[in-house]
Amino acid sequence: MHDLVVTVNGRSRPMQGATAHTTALDWLRDSGLTGSKEGCAEGECGACAMLVATPGEQGGTEWTAVNACLVPVAALNGQEVVTAEGLGSPDALHPVQEKLAEAGGSQCGYCTPGFACSMAGEYYRADRVPSGEHAATDEHDEGCSVHDPEHGPNGFDLHALSGNLCRCTGYRPIRDAAYTLGTPADDDELAARRSRPAPTPVPTDFEADGGRFVRPANLDDTLRLIRDEPSAVLVAGSTDLGVEVNIRGRRAPLVVAIEQLDELRTLAIGDDVIEIGAALSLSEIERRLAGRIPLLAQLLPQFASRLIRNRGTIGGNLGTGSPIGDTPPALLALGARLVLASSDGEREVELADYFTGYRQTVRRPDELIRAIRIPLPLARITAFHKIAKRRFDDISSVALGFALDVEDGIVTSARIGLGGVAATPLRATATEAALTGKPWNVATVRAASSVLRGEGTPMSDHRASSEYRSLMLGNALLKLYSQTVIESKEVSA
Ligand SMILES: Cc1cc2nc3c(=O)[nH]c(=O)nc-3n(C[C@H](O)[C@H](O)[C@H](O)COP(=O)(O)OP(=O)(O)OC[C@H]3O[C@@H](n4cnc5c(N)ncnc54)[C@H](O)[C@@H]3O)c2cc1C
Ligand code: FES
Ligand code: FES
Repeated sequence: MHDLVVTVNGRSRPMQGATAHTTALDWLRDSGLTGSKEGCAEGECGACAMLVATPGEQGGTEWTAVNACLVPVAALNGQEVVTAEGLGSPDALHPVQEKLAEAGGSQCGYCTPGFACSMAGEYYRADRVPSGEHAATDEHDEGCSVHDPEHGPNGFDLHALSGNLCRCTGYRPIRDAAYTLGTPADDDELAARRSRPAPTPVPTDFEADGGRFVRPANLDDTLRLIRDEPSAVLVAGSTDLGVEVNIRGRRAPLVVAIEQLDELRTLAIGDDVIEIGAALSLSEIERRLAGRIPLLAQLLPQFASRLIRNRGTIGGNLGTGSPIGDTPPALLALGARLVLASSDGEREVELADYFTGYRQTVRRPDELIRAIRIPLPLARITAFHKIAKRRFDDISSVALGFALDVEDGIVTSARIGLGGVAATPLRATATEAALTGKPWNVATVRAASSVLRGEGTPMSDHRASSEYRSLMLGNALLKLYSQTVIESKEVSA
């Protein structure tokens, strides 16, 4: 027996029957809250979406939509959650439910609670600005999200629904519902909740059914624990580990939660380095950097779905050691370094030296990634190319990060990161050499693209053939070049 509790829809509930590996979705449904549905149990469909109260900027709270099927319920100890049942009832529908009904945005209804939660997350987004109330100065027009065609006139960002699938209604009525949402009424309790601080992390240590779940109070306790228990598995957003638990039946004897550690949640912009805390979610990084690193600003919207980005962390993406993670190619191009922390202190490792083999890294079991450091100044020409079967919410077949400097028509520095073409993410060093010191023109780029085509050792799998992967590498450099030519013509016009 343990004393874990979570506030669901305003009511405190003991987490009866939970083990270290029970997902929030299973626990909610077993508790009778069957609004959240299971479609896939691997973060792909959004039928399970729920809202979690997370720390907002300026000390308030945000309602963040996440996949309940991936989050261990124990990670919610002391936290607040809202499910579709908590949004409204048949007698008193929530505005998102009302609009979905009016627009005909629900047929079988299986996906609807998940859509309602994702929509509510966007409905309560503090910086959602209706375009009518938006000062459309020239300065604002340039790259401003409010003018994005995927934003409604009410400022609703359709990408908020990128992690929700509907099998039978079709998306137009759902979009129509989203675009007619107004702003929360004065007596809206969830809106009012945003002005108070989010629940603080609650140190947790419980064991059930042979599995132990620990949320240490601080970084020092975490580092001592992973030093003393080499079999401990770290969990941050659980968007990767959760899939292993659900689909591959992974049951680690000790899970150590780190996503709420303050020491891993800072973002500092200095004169010669930007340091990003490993436990910041991808959505938080997107929002807090606000375009300061254009390469990441280009990458982040292409990373999974909003539901996954709301929970998945940058440290988790590097912690997997995966050769097809999206951040490594971009971070390699940015010349990033990792800060690895252990109870002996910290060490800094070049990301290029971090990966040693398929899902193998130099990180020792007693270490965790505390932060990612990106040196300044940034290269002037940067781009992220993700080649995947779908535009959004898909794993890359091939990904490339480019960071180049061109002065007086000559390439003065080139860093290219690759993913999906070898057992590890890697730098395209031969291509970098083929570019550096050469004129930035079509002849150089053609020659360098044929070198790029030969980088790595791409293999064929269900995502892409090795030939396709090689071809895409070379094409990406040609595409980058043509984009820079178009942009320079636009500037001189
Ligand atoms: C539907 C879906 C779509 C996805 N799409 C993409 C995509 O487009 N691109 C992409 O790159 N990935 C994608 N992913 C994978 C996943 O979301 C990312 O890898 C994410 O960044 C993992 O972060 P997390 O915090 O959830 O990691 P977790 O699942 O918590 O952890 C993952 C691994 O990293 C370790 N770890 C976590 N934090 C640290 C740390 N600070 N130090 C050391 N080790 C750590 C854990 O022990 C674990 O082994 C997708 C996943 C799903 C389910
Ligand atoms: S059940 Fe499909 S995303 Fe959770
Ligand atoms: S209404 Fe049936 S799946 Fe969306």
